[in-house]
Order: sequence, then C-alpha cells, then structure tokens
Amino acid sequence: MQLQIENLNKTYGNQLKALDNITLTIDKGMFGLLGPNGAGKSTLMRTIATLQNPDSGSIKLGDIDVLKQKDELRKVLGYLPQDFGFYPKVTALDLLNHFAILKGINNKGERNEIVSALLQQTNLYESRKRYVSNYSGGMRQRFGIAQALLGSPRLMIVDEPTAGLDPMERNRFYNILSEIGEQVIVILSTHIVEDVRTLCNTLVVMNKGRILLQGSPAQAVQEFQGRIWRKRIEKSEFNQYKNRFKVISQYVSEGKVIIHVLSDNLPDESFEHVNAGLEDVYFSSIANS
Ligand SMILES: Nc1ncnc2c1ncn2[C@@H]1O[C@H](COP(=O)(O)OP(=O)(O)OP(=O)(O)O)[C@@H](O)[C@H]1O
Ligand SMILES: [Mg+2]
Repeated sequence: MQLQIENLNKTYGNQLKALDNITLTIDKGMFGLLGPNGAGKSTLMRTIATLQNPDSGSIKLGDIDVLKQKDELRKVLGYLPQDFGFYPKVTALDLLNHFAILKGINNKGERNEIVSALLQQTNLYESRKRYVSNYSGGMRQRFGIAQALLGSPRLMIVDEPTAGLDPMERNRFYNILSEIGEQVIVILSTHIVEDVRTLCNTLVVMNKGRILLQGSPAQAVQEFQGRIWRKRIEKSEFNQYKNRFKVISQYVSEGKVIIHVLSDNLPDESFEHVNAGLEDVYFSSIANS
C-alpha cells in the first residue's frame, strides 16, 4: 500500500503558503519529514490525517480517496499530534481503555488484551496505574504511541515525537517506532537530523511549504559530496565570511568559529574539504530555499 499525495496546496488567511504544490509518494517503512519551525510539517500531517482540508490537490492511501472518504482513512490511521493534551487524574490503563472504546473495540476481553499488549510494547505496563498527567515527557510520548497504535493502523503519523526527550528516551522511542515501521507506513516529522539518520529509509527536507530534497539519507548525502568546505575563523570575521560565502552552518569550538560553506569549487586555499554529513545536507537545502 502506498500513500500518494499530488499537488497539495494550502494558503492560510494571512496569504502564507503553508503547502506549496506538494507531490509525494510514500511507501511502507519510516518516512522522515525534516524541516525547521514553520516549514509546513504539521499542516501536511493534519491534512493527511483528515483534520483539515487543503485548498486543492489529492491524497490517496491505496484505494482510499483520503479527502473524500475521511471515515475510511480514520479507520486505518494512527496519529500522534504535536501537542497532545491530557486529562488530569486518569491512569494510563483507564485512558487507553477509553480510547480503545472510542476506536470501536467493543469486546471487553479483546479490549483488555489489546490495551495490555500496547502498554507492554511501549514499556508502560509497570506504570499503567499512574496518572498520565504525572508521566515524564518521554513516558507521555510513549503513551501517545500506544493510543496511536490502537486498531492496528496501516498509516501512522507522528508529529515531532522526539522534541524534548533526553537521549535515552529518544533511543527507546526510536526502537518502538522502527519496529512499527516494519509493518506500516510511518510518517515522522522532526527538526532533529539525528532522528532521520537513525530511523528513516526515506526523507524529505521541507521549508516554506515546499519539498527541497527527497531520497534516502545516503542518496541525499551523496548529492552534496565534494561541495562542503570548512574553515576555522575568528568570531569577529564571521560577518565578513557570511557576506562572501554561502555559510550553511557554524559552531563555536575553543573560542573560534568553525564554518561550513556550500560551494561547487574550493572557495579559496584557506578552506579544507569535508565529507558531507546529513546536517550539511539539511542546512544546505534550507540555505538554498
Ligand atoms: N491555523 C493557522 N492559521 C494561520 N497560519 C497558520 C495556521 N497554522 C499554521 N500556520 C502557519 O503556517 C506555517 C506552517 O505551519 P506548520 O505548523 O505547518 O509548520 P511546522 O513545520 O509544523 O512548524 P513547527 O516545527 O514549528 O511545528 C507557519 O508559518 C504557521 O505560522
Ligand atoms: Mg509542527
């Protein structure tokens, strides 16, 4: 089953084009949507999840015409929104059970089994009797995944699920997600390059409502190989370099600034070549947009 998005457009009231003619085909596996704040990631995901309508374009999941058959899509969708609110003083067990009823899992025995299995899968079984509102950020995100998995979805949409998680929780979360990605289409949005590198077989870089780049992480890196250059400069020189070259990233190291520059040729003799990494790909795409 494939998700096919064609010529999707959305302009908000303020004339801002949040989706600018997006066309994408997404297969089974982990698909990474990488972009900075305001790129249009949530708008795209909410549109696929049938929570808002585009101005034009089409979305198909297998035989389902997503924009016309919203109920059909919702039956096979698992969605973890970027802001996931919680009811106070409800245990994880009760809340997941409640969501299961909403999903139409009416048989009590079956429901108990599914709920237990999901709590186990997301490592929350031991904490199932705690209030979700008292969970840590990482536990909440895992609970969010558990609720999204109710009803065995064929399409999972997770919007910036790793924001604010510590490295250990992120790893735990990666493991749960990549297991899911073996069976269904998972679309993950993030502004963290590392998420995409470890998890995704396909990625797109998005900014200002447009797709800037698409492919596997390895292909994406290949495209920028031989075009990334590095130099150590003084902080006071930074503006001068920024004006002369396409500086895609900078970081401070031992009181100096290390800049990466995108250029088809050696910018000048003082630069050295570096192998492109996925960060360079990301920042180069954004700088070119
Ligand atoms: N309901 C809305 N009304 C008006 N403008 C909106 C609305 N929702 C989003 N926007 C604007 O559309 C653009 C895309 O927003 P969107 O939330 O899709 O981006 P994003 O990539 O998810 O960003 P973030 O990483 O911050 O979550 C932004 O400029 C945003 O301000
Ligand atoms: Mg967002």
